[in-house]
Amino acid sequence: MSKLLIIDDNDTMREGMVAIVKKLGLECDEAKDGNSGVNLVKKNDYHLVVTDYRMEGLNGIEVLKQVKNQSPKTEVMVITAYGSIELAVEAMKYGAVDFITKPFSHDEFKIKVQRILDRVNEKRELTRISDENIYLREKLDEQFNFGEIIGNSKLMKDVYRTIQKVASADSSVLIYGESGTGKELVARAIHKMSSRKNKPFIRVNCGALAETLLESELFGHEKGAFSGAIKRKKGRFELAQQGSIFLDEIGDISLNMQTKLLRVLQEREFERVGGEETIQADVRILAATNKHLAEQVEEGKFREDLYYRLFIIPIYLPALRDRKDDIPLLVNHFLKKLAADLKKTPIQICQAALEKLGEYNWPGNVRELENVLERVLVLCENQQIDVFDLPILTRSNSAKIPSDVVDRRNFNLNDTLYDIEKQLIQRAMNETGGNKSRAAKLLGIKTSLLYYKLEKYNLLDKK
Ligand SMILES: Nc1ncnc2c1ncn2[C@@H]1O[C@H](COP(=O)(O)OP(=O)(O)OP(=O)(O)O)[C@@H](O)[C@H]1O
Ligand SMILES: [Mg+2]
Repeated sequence: MSKLLIIDDNDTMREGMVAIVKKLGLECDEAKDGNSGVNLVKKNDYHLVVTDYRMEGLNGIEVLKQVKNQSPKTEVMVITAYGSIELAVEAMKYGAVDFITKPFSHDEFKIKVQRILDRVNEKRELTRISDENIYLREKLDEQFNFGEIIGNSKLMKDVYRTIQKVASADSSVLIYGESGTGKELVARAIHKMSSRKNKPFIRVNCGALAETLLESELFGHEKGAFSGAIKRKKGRFELAQQGSIFLDEIGDISLNMQTKLLRVLQEREFERVGGEETIQADVRILAATNKHLAEQVEEGKFREDLYYRLFIIPIYLPALRDRKDDIPLLVNHFLKKLAADLKKTPIQICQAALEKLGEYNWPGNVRELENVLERVLVLCENQQIDVFDLPILTRSNSAKIPSDVVDRRNFNLNDTLYDIEKQLIQRAMNETGGNKSRAAKLLGIKTSLLYYKLEKYNLLDKK
């Protein structure tokens, strides 16, 4: 039977919670302060400890740390006051399984406790099974070895370490980084390494769907919910039950949908569009974005509370230009893989060509590298890729930030941006022979703005 410990210095609150837990038929101890609570944890094996945050003596976070230290498999839920989201985030960072905000109803408390215990029992069962077969599990871990993700750089090793750490937890993960850096690969890796690996991994491209479509895509709909809804349809959250859902391009969803998602993240439940039945979502949420979510929050385009909920475990994927030492490994990997896909015999690449690939700054990251190699492989008739097989890169290379600007030791953002802008404008003017409307087009700005900038940088007479 599951055993709980409730720590709260407010007698009415504590006794209320204990009564609810006992009504559920569970064993429950109680403590009036953090210290005596922690002492009880030393003597008993609790499945779940519920602790208030604000108490005399140890506060809830300190209790959480000590409990996790004593007994890592004991879950902890922290009770926080309304409006203290940072505290809740901090609690989650220190390993709390969840938090509950005061004031809460009996039902809210009951549902949270039940849900946590369901997961704890499942986890304990899994650990029991795998403890019996620990050898087998180690072998499987070895085999996985980040198989599809290539990269040996320090930055990628940090990514692997985080994946390994978070895979077994059930917390939401936010994977962010530029386009083509491998965010989807990482999401799949987390799923494959989690206890949900034999259940579905469902991807939703949030950016590709209009709001109403996205809602029915995520949550499903009942027959007749809207014109065209000729029968009940399960949404992706339902399809992903017991597995993981990958919300790709999450930075693109509307504020309205953000509110709906927040509810699933917080309450783990939803309704189908046009439906009344509440469905429990036992789904792990993995999200990805190539947008600066923090900036979107500042601009009021992304809900702050959803951002914090997602940002509990962030994984940043570095741009390829920041880990160029991975390029040779990636090139070898893609040459083999693409040759097999294209049914060609694998070919080599000469050192000079490899160096040339290293000079480019890869705005499209690994995806761009893969695409370039595919083109090269299709066109190359020799047994070895030479520098002249890579003509495509020379032009795009000009998009690289001028090295004299970034290499100098001046870190002042305004000065640096000023210099970069000036140089880009000069270059656009040179490229177009001083034709201002063409230069403006090249720069993606209006001609009137270009005039203004030419004046600002004192470039008007120079071409
Ligand atoms: N580290 C890597 N090792 C091997 N292949 C990679 C790596 N990173 C990316 N790729 C490959 O590059 C392509 C793009 O990766 P992915 O779709 O995961 O990028 P993304 O970050 O999700 O990009 P976007 O933001 O544009 O959706 C895929 O074909 C993927 O297999
Ligand atoms: Mg992607």
